[in-house]
Amino acid sequence: MPKAIGDTILQVEDLQTELSTKMGVLRAVDGVSFSVRQGETLGIVGESGSGKSMTALSILGVLPRPAGSIVGGRVVFNGQDLRTLSEPQMRRVRGGSISMVLQDPQTSLNPVYTIGSQVTEAIALHRDVPRRSLIGRAVAVLRQVRVAAPDQRVKDYPHQMSGGMKQRVVGAIAISCDPHLLIADEPTTALDVTIQSQYLRLLRDIQEETRLSIIFITHDFGIVANMCDRVAVMYAGRLVESGPVRSIFNVPKHPYTQALLKSVPAMDRPVDRLYSIPGQPPVLWDLPPGCRFVARCPVAEPRCTTRYPPAFPVADGTDGGHVASCWKLEDPAWNTPNS
Ligand SMILES: Nc1ncnc2c1ncn2[C@@H]1O[C@H](COP(=O)(O)OP(=O)(O)OP(=O)(O)O)[C@@H](O)[C@H]1O
Ligand SMILES: [Mg+2]
Repeated sequence: MPKAIGDTILQVEDLQTELSTKMGVLRAVDGVSFSVRQGETLGIVGESGSGKSMTALSILGVLPRPAGSIVGGRVVFNGQDLRTLSEPQMRRVRGGSISMVLQDPQTSLNPVYTIGSQVTEAIALHRDVPRRSLIGRAVAVLRQVRVAAPDQRVKDYPHQMSGGMKQRVVGAIAISCDPHLLIADEPTTALDVTIQSQYLRLLRDIQEETRLSIIFITHDFGIVANMCDRVAVMYAGRLVESGPVRSIFNVPKHPYTQALLKSVPAMDRPVDRLYSIPGQPPVLWDLPPGCRFVARCPVAEPRCTTRYPPAFPVADGTDGGHVASCWKLEDPAWNTPNS
Protein backbone atom coordinates (compact mmCIF):
# COMPACT_ATOMS: atom_id res chain seq x y z
CA MET A 1 0.00 0.00 0.00
CA PRO A 2 1.50 3.38 -0.91
CA LYS A 3 2.19 5.67 2.01
CA ALA A 4 -0.22 8.51 2.66
CA ILE A 5 1.80 11.69 2.18
CA GLY A 6 0.18 15.01 3.03
CA ASP A 7 0.99 18.71 2.85
CA THR A 8 4.37 20.30 3.44
CA ILE A 9 5.06 20.67 7.16
CA LEU A 10 8.69 21.81 7.02
CA GLN A 11 10.18 24.17 4.49
CA VAL A 12 13.87 25.00 4.78
CA GLU A 13 14.75 27.91 2.48
CA ASP A 14 18.28 29.00 1.69
CA LEU A 15 19.53 28.09 5.16
CA GLN A 16 22.95 29.49 6.01
CA THR A 17 24.70 28.54 9.21
CA GLU A 18 28.09 29.77 10.31
CA LEU A 19 30.55 28.47 12.86
CA SER A 20 33.35 30.54 14.26
CA THR A 21 36.48 28.47 14.64
CA LYS A 22 40.22 28.94 14.98
CA MET A 23 40.35 28.92 11.18
CA GLY A 24 37.91 31.81 10.99
CA VAL A 25 34.19 31.90 10.32
CA LEU A 26 33.03 28.87 8.33
CA ARG A 27 29.78 28.43 6.45
CA ALA A 28 28.90 24.88 7.55
CA VAL A 29 25.48 25.06 5.86
CA ASP A 30 25.48 27.19 2.73
CA GLY A 31 22.17 27.91 1.07
CA VAL A 32 20.38 24.63 1.75
CA SER A 33 16.71 24.32 0.74
CA PHE A 34 14.34 21.37 1.03
CA SER A 35 10.89 20.52 2.24
CA VAL A 36 9.27 17.64 4.08
CA ARG A 37 5.63 16.66 3.83
CA GLN A 38 3.41 15.02 6.40
CA GLY A 39 4.10 11.29 6.64
CA GLU A 40 7.17 11.58 4.42
CA THR A 41 10.72 10.47 5.17
CA LEU A 42 13.55 12.59 3.80
CA GLY A 43 17.03 11.10 3.88
CA ILE A 44 20.01 13.44 4.15
CA VAL A 45 23.22 11.76 3.00
CA GLY A 46 26.79 12.88 2.45
CA GLU A 47 30.30 12.26 3.71
CA SER A 48 31.47 13.16 7.17
CA GLY A 49 31.67 16.92 7.67
CA SER A 50 29.25 17.77 4.84
CA GLY A 51 26.93 19.66 7.20
CA LYS A 52 24.17 17.13 7.84
CA SER A 53 24.14 17.48 11.61
CA MET A 54 24.55 21.26 11.42
CA THR A 55 21.46 21.37 9.20
CA ALA A 56 19.50 19.35 11.78
CA LEU A 57 20.76 21.43 14.70
CA SER A 58 19.89 24.62 12.81
CA ILE A 59 16.29 23.47 12.32
CA LEU A 60 16.00 22.83 16.05
CA GLY A 61 17.90 25.99 17.03
CA VAL A 62 20.43 24.07 19.12
CA LEU A 63 23.71 24.95 17.42
CA PRO A 64 26.90 24.73 19.47
CA ARG A 65 27.29 27.92 21.49
CA PRO A 66 28.72 30.44 21.09
CA ALA A 67 30.36 29.18 17.87
CA GLY A 68 27.27 28.49 15.77
CA SER A 69 24.63 30.81 14.39
CA ILE A 70 22.11 30.90 11.57
CA VAL A 71 22.94 33.88 9.39
CA GLY A 72 20.37 33.52 6.64
CA GLY A 73 17.33 31.75 5.31
CA ARG A 74 14.09 30.51 6.81
CA VAL A 75 12.91 27.39 8.61
CA VAL A 76 9.15 27.32 8.23
CA PHE A 77 7.44 24.66 10.32
CA ASN A 78 3.66 24.32 10.19
CA GLY A 79 3.47 27.76 8.63
CA GLN A 80 5.63 29.48 11.26
CA ASP A 81 9.20 30.72 10.75
CA LEU A 82 11.05 29.12 13.65
CA ARG A 83 13.78 31.76 13.44
CA THR A 84 11.32 34.38 14.68
CA LEU A 85 10.42 32.43 17.85
CA SER A 86 11.81 33.30 21.27
CA GLU A 87 13.88 30.72 23.16
CA PRO A 88 10.96 29.75 25.48
CA GLN A 89 8.74 29.30 22.40
CA MET A 90 11.44 27.22 20.70
CA ARG A 91 11.74 25.06 23.81
CA ARG A 92 8.09 24.15 23.43
CA VAL A 93 8.66 23.18 19.80
CA ARG A 94 11.70 21.02 20.64
CA GLY A 95 10.67 17.71 22.09
CA GLY A 96 7.05 18.74 21.46
CA SER A 97 6.15 19.01 17.79
CA ILE A 98 9.72 18.39 16.58
CA SER A 99 11.90 15.86 18.33
CA MET A 100 15.34 14.51 17.67
CA VAL A 101 17.08 11.17 18.13
CA LEU A 102 20.85 11.26 18.25
CA GLN A 103 23.47 8.82 17.16
CA ASP A 104 24.51 7.44 20.50
CA PRO A 105 21.88 6.35 23.02
CA GLN A 106 24.59 6.32 25.73
CA THR A 107 24.83 10.08 25.57
CA SER A 108 21.09 10.67 25.26
CA LEU A 109 20.18 8.86 28.47
CA ASN A 110 21.30 9.97 31.89
CA PRO A 111 22.98 7.05 33.70
CA VAL A 112 21.84 8.15 37.18
CA TYR A 113 18.08 8.24 36.54
CA THR A 114 15.71 5.36 35.90
CA ILE A 115 14.23 4.83 32.46
CA GLY A 116 10.80 5.62 33.92
CA SER A 117 11.85 8.99 35.31
CA GLN A 118 13.52 9.99 32.03
CA VAL A 119 10.48 9.14 29.93
CA THR A 120 8.05 10.77 32.37
CA GLU A 121 10.22 13.90 32.55
CA ALA A 122 9.93 14.37 28.80
CA ILE A 123 6.17 13.91 28.93
CA ALA A 124 5.73 16.23 31.93
CA LEU A 125 7.73 18.94 30.18
CA HIS A 126 5.55 19.06 27.11
CA ARG A 127 2.16 17.59 27.90
CA ASP A 128 -0.48 18.47 30.41
CA VAL A 129 -0.67 15.01 31.96
CA PRO A 130 -1.61 14.70 35.68
CA ARG A 131 1.36 13.50 37.79
CA ARG A 132 -0.30 10.25 38.78
CA SER A 133 -0.90 9.33 35.13
CA LEU A 134 2.68 10.02 34.04
CA ILE A 135 4.11 6.61 34.78
CA GLY A 136 1.17 4.93 33.05
CA ARG A 137 1.81 7.06 29.97
CA ALA A 138 5.55 6.20 30.13
CA VAL A 139 4.72 2.49 30.24
CA ALA A 140 2.41 2.97 27.25
CA VAL A 141 5.07 4.65 25.09
CA LEU A 142 7.64 2.01 26.03
CA ARG A 143 5.11 -0.59 24.95
CA GLN A 144 4.63 1.36 21.71
CA VAL A 145 8.36 1.00 20.96
CA ARG A 146 8.06 -2.74 21.76
CA VAL A 147 10.02 -2.79 25.01
CA ALA A 148 9.06 -6.08 26.67
CA ALA A 149 7.61 -5.92 30.23
CA PRO A 150 7.61 -2.11 30.23
CA ASP A 151 6.05 -1.89 33.70
CA GLN A 152 9.17 -3.61 35.04
CA ARG A 153 11.68 -1.87 32.79
CA VAL A 154 10.65 1.62 33.97
CA LYS A 155 12.47 0.86 37.23
CA ASP A 156 15.71 -0.03 35.41
CA TYR A 157 18.72 2.21 34.93
CA PRO A 158 20.24 2.62 31.43
CA HIS A 159 23.21 0.33 32.25
CA GLN A 160 20.77 -2.52 32.85
CA MET A 161 19.63 -2.42 29.24
CA SER A 162 21.19 -3.57 25.96
CA GLY A 163 22.19 -1.06 23.28
CA GLY A 164 19.15 -1.86 21.15
CA MET A 165 16.83 -1.52 24.13
CA LYS A 166 18.35 1.85 25.05
CA GLN A 167 17.85 3.06 21.51
CA ARG A 168 14.17 2.11 21.83
CA VAL A 169 13.94 4.11 25.04
CA VAL A 170 15.47 7.10 23.25
CA GLY A 171 12.87 6.52 20.52
CA ALA A 172 10.14 6.37 23.19
CA ILE A 173 11.24 9.72 24.60
CA ALA A 174 11.26 11.19 21.10
CA ILE A 175 7.71 10.06 20.30
CA SER A 176 6.26 10.49 23.79
CA CYS A 177 4.89 13.92 22.94
CA ASP A 178 3.37 12.92 19.61
CA PRO A 179 5.73 14.98 17.47
CA HIS A 180 4.87 15.92 13.89
CA LEU A 181 8.50 15.73 12.82
CA LEU A 182 11.25 13.44 14.04
CA ILE A 183 14.86 14.20 13.14
CA ALA A 184 16.98 11.08 13.46
CA ASP A 185 20.72 11.75 13.18
CA GLU A 186 22.47 8.41 12.51
CA PRO A 187 20.25 6.70 15.08
CA THR A 188 21.34 3.18 14.22
CA THR A 189 25.13 3.46 13.89
CA ALA A 190 25.71 1.88 17.29
CA LEU A 191 23.37 -1.07 16.66
CA ASP A 192 24.05 -4.45 15.12
CA VAL A 193 22.26 -5.21 11.86
CA THR A 194 19.41 -7.30 13.28
CA ILE A 195 18.59 -4.77 15.98
CA GLN A 196 19.01 -2.02 13.40
CA SER A 197 16.48 -3.50 11.03
CA GLN A 198 14.02 -4.09 13.90
CA TYR A 199 14.43 -0.48 14.94
CA LEU A 200 13.87 0.79 11.40
CA ARG A 201 10.77 -1.37 11.04
CA LEU A 202 9.51 0.04 14.31
CA LEU A 203 10.02 3.61 13.08
CA ARG A 204 8.11 2.77 9.92
CA ASP A 205 5.25 1.24 11.93
CA ILE A 206 5.07 4.30 14.15
CA GLN A 207 5.08 6.49 11.08
CA GLU A 208 2.20 4.53 9.59
CA GLU A 209 0.18 4.82 12.80
CA THR A 210 0.86 8.51 13.40
CA ARG A 211 1.70 9.99 9.95
CA LEU A 212 4.90 11.31 11.47
CA SER A 213 7.38 13.03 9.13
CA ILE A 214 10.98 11.92 9.50
CA ILE A 215 14.33 13.42 8.51
CA PHE A 216 16.78 10.57 8.48
CA ILE A 217 20.45 11.48 8.48
CA THR A 218 22.72 8.63 7.50
CA HIS A 219 25.78 7.42 5.62
CA ASP A 220 24.03 4.21 4.74
CA PHE A 221 22.34 3.99 1.33
CA GLY A 222 20.82 0.66 2.35
CA ILE A 223 18.87 2.49 5.04
CA VAL A 224 17.95 5.22 2.57
CA ALA A 225 16.53 2.65 0.14
CA ASN A 226 14.58 1.06 2.97
CA MET A 227 13.27 4.10 4.76
CA CYS A 228 13.17 7.20 2.62
CA ASP A 229 10.73 8.69 0.13
CA ARG A 230 13.08 11.46 -0.91
CA VAL A 231 16.82 11.98 -0.66
CA ALA A 232 18.97 15.10 -0.30
CA VAL A 233 22.69 14.73 -0.94
CA MET A 234 25.02 17.17 0.80
CA TYR A 235 28.59 18.04 -0.09
CA ALA A 236 30.78 20.61 1.69
CA GLY A 237 27.81 22.49 3.16
CA ARG A 238 25.69 22.48 0.03
CA LEU A 239 22.89 20.36 -1.28
CA VAL A 240 24.13 18.97 -4.58
CA GLU A 241 21.25 16.70 -5.60
CA SER A 242 17.78 15.90 -4.32
CA GLY A 243 14.79 13.98 -5.51
CA PRO A 244 12.57 10.95 -5.05
CA VAL A 245 14.52 7.97 -3.73
CA ARG A 246 13.82 5.88 -6.80
CA SER A 247 15.13 8.42 -9.28
CA ILE A 248 18.18 9.15 -7.15
CA PHE A 249 19.04 5.45 -7.21
CA ASN A 250 18.09 4.88 -10.84
CA VAL A 251 19.37 8.05 -12.47
CA PRO A 252 21.79 9.80 -10.12
CA LYS A 253 23.04 12.82 -12.07
CA HIS A 254 25.56 14.54 -9.84
CA PRO A 255 28.97 12.87 -10.17
CA TYR A 256 29.22 12.98 -6.37
CA THR A 257 25.95 11.05 -5.93
CA GLN A 258 27.11 8.62 -8.60
CA ALA A 259 30.37 8.10 -6.73
CA LEU A 260 28.55 7.64 -3.40
CA LEU A 261 26.30 5.02 -4.96
CA LYS A 262 29.28 3.32 -6.53
CA SER A 263 30.82 2.94 -3.11
CA VAL A 264 27.80 0.92 -1.89
CA PRO A 265 28.53 -2.81 -2.09
CA ALA A 266 25.86 -4.62 -4.11
CA MET A 267 24.81 -8.23 -3.63
CA ASP A 268 24.17 -8.78 -7.31
CA ARG A 269 27.52 -7.83 -8.76
CA PRO A 270 30.99 -9.10 -8.02
CA VAL A 271 33.40 -6.68 -6.39
CA ASP A 272 37.14 -7.08 -6.19
CA ARG A 273 37.53 -4.27 -3.75
CA LEU A 274 35.14 -1.73 -2.37
CA TYR A 275 35.13 1.51 -4.26
CA SER A 276 35.86 4.64 -2.29
CA ILE A 277 35.83 8.14 -3.66
CA PRO A 278 39.41 9.29 -4.27
CA GLY A 279 40.52 12.45 -2.49
CA GLN A 280 38.98 14.43 0.32
CA PRO A 281 36.21 17.03 0.50
CA PRO A 282 37.56 20.60 0.49
CA VAL A 283 38.05 22.30 3.83
CA LEU A 284 35.42 24.92 4.54
CA TRP A 285 37.96 27.70 5.08
CA ASP A 286 39.44 27.21 1.62
CA LEU A 287 36.62 26.51 -0.81
CA PRO A 288 37.08 26.61 -4.58
CA PRO A 289 35.08 29.34 -6.37
CA GLY A 290 33.18 26.92 -8.59
CA CYS A 291 31.80 23.48 -7.88
CA ARG A 292 33.10 22.15 -4.57
CA PHE A 293 33.45 18.62 -5.91
CA VAL A 294 35.66 19.71 -8.81
CA ALA A 295 38.95 18.34 -7.48
CA ARG A 296 37.51 14.82 -7.17
CA CYS A 297 35.18 14.86 -10.15
CA PRO A 298 35.97 12.46 -13.00
CA VAL A 299 34.08 14.60 -15.55
CA ALA A 300 35.06 18.12 -14.45
CA GLU A 301 35.52 20.77 -17.13
CA PRO A 302 37.03 24.26 -17.07
CA ARG A 303 33.63 25.92 -16.44
CA CYS A 304 33.26 23.87 -13.22
CA THR A 305 36.22 25.64 -11.65
CA THR A 306 34.90 29.16 -12.08
CA ARG A 307 31.20 29.33 -11.22
CA TYR A 308 29.04 27.34 -8.83
CA PRO A 309 26.40 25.46 -10.86
CA PRO A 310 22.70 26.22 -10.32
CA ALA A 311 20.22 23.42 -9.55
CA PHE A 312 19.16 21.96 -12.92
CA PRO A 313 15.99 19.86 -13.19
CA VAL A 314 16.86 16.28 -14.00
CA ALA A 315 15.05 14.79 -16.96
CA ASP A 316 14.30 11.42 -15.48
CA GLY A 317 10.84 10.84 -16.84
CA THR A 318 9.12 11.64 -13.54
CA ASP A 319 7.84 14.88 -12.13
CA GLY A 320 9.23 14.33 -8.68
CA GLY A 321 11.35 17.46 -8.37
CA HIS A 322 14.67 15.76 -9.01
CA VAL A 323 17.38 18.44 -9.28
CA ALA A 324 21.16 18.41 -9.34
CA SER A 325 23.73 21.22 -9.18
CA CYS A 326 26.12 20.17 -11.91
CA TRP A 327 27.08 22.04 -15.11
CA LYS A 328 26.97 18.74 -17.00
CA LEU A 329 23.17 18.90 -16.86
CA GLU A 330 23.26 21.75 -19.35
CA ASP A 331 24.26 19.17 -21.93
CA PRO A 332 21.24 17.33 -23.36
CA ALA A 333 23.31 14.17 -23.78
CA TRP A 334 24.08 14.06 -20.05
CA ASN A 335 20.55 14.95 -19.06
CA THR A 336 18.37 12.41 -20.84
CA PRO A 337 16.05 9.98 -19.08
CA ASN A 338 17.68 6.70 -18.11
CA SER A 339 21.17 7.63 -19.18
N1 LIG B 1 31.20 22.29 17.47
C1 LIG B 1 31.78 22.62 16.31
N2 LIG B 1 32.61 23.70 16.22
C2 LIG B 1 33.21 24.03 15.08
N3 LIG B 1 33.04 23.36 13.91
C3 LIG B 1 32.23 22.30 13.91
C4 LIG B 1 31.56 21.87 15.11
N4 LIG B 1 30.82 20.77 14.80
C5 LIG B 1 31.02 20.55 13.47
N5 LIG B 1 31.85 21.46 12.93
C6 LIG B 1 32.24 21.56 11.52
O1 LIG B 1 31.08 21.86 10.75
C7 LIG B 1 31.10 21.17 9.52
C8 LIG B 1 29.83 20.37 9.35
O2 LIG B 1 29.79 19.38 10.36
P1 LIG B 1 28.59 18.40 10.61
O3 LIG B 1 28.72 17.91 12.01
O4 LIG B 1 27.31 19.05 10.24
O5 LIG B 1 28.90 17.22 9.57
P2 LIG B 1 28.09 15.88 9.29
O6 LIG B 1 27.70 15.90 7.86
O7 LIG B 1 27.02 15.71 10.30
O8 LIG B 1 29.23 14.78 9.49
P3 LIG B 1 29.17 13.31 10.17
O9 LIG B 1 28.69 12.40 9.11
O10 LIG B 1 30.60 13.06 10.53
O11 LIG B 1 28.28 13.38 11.37
C9 LIG B 1 32.37 20.33 9.54
O12 LIG B 1 33.34 21.02 8.80
C10 LIG B 1 32.76 20.25 10.99
O13 LIG B 1 34.15 20.15 11.13
MG1 LIG C 1 26.73 14.37 11.87
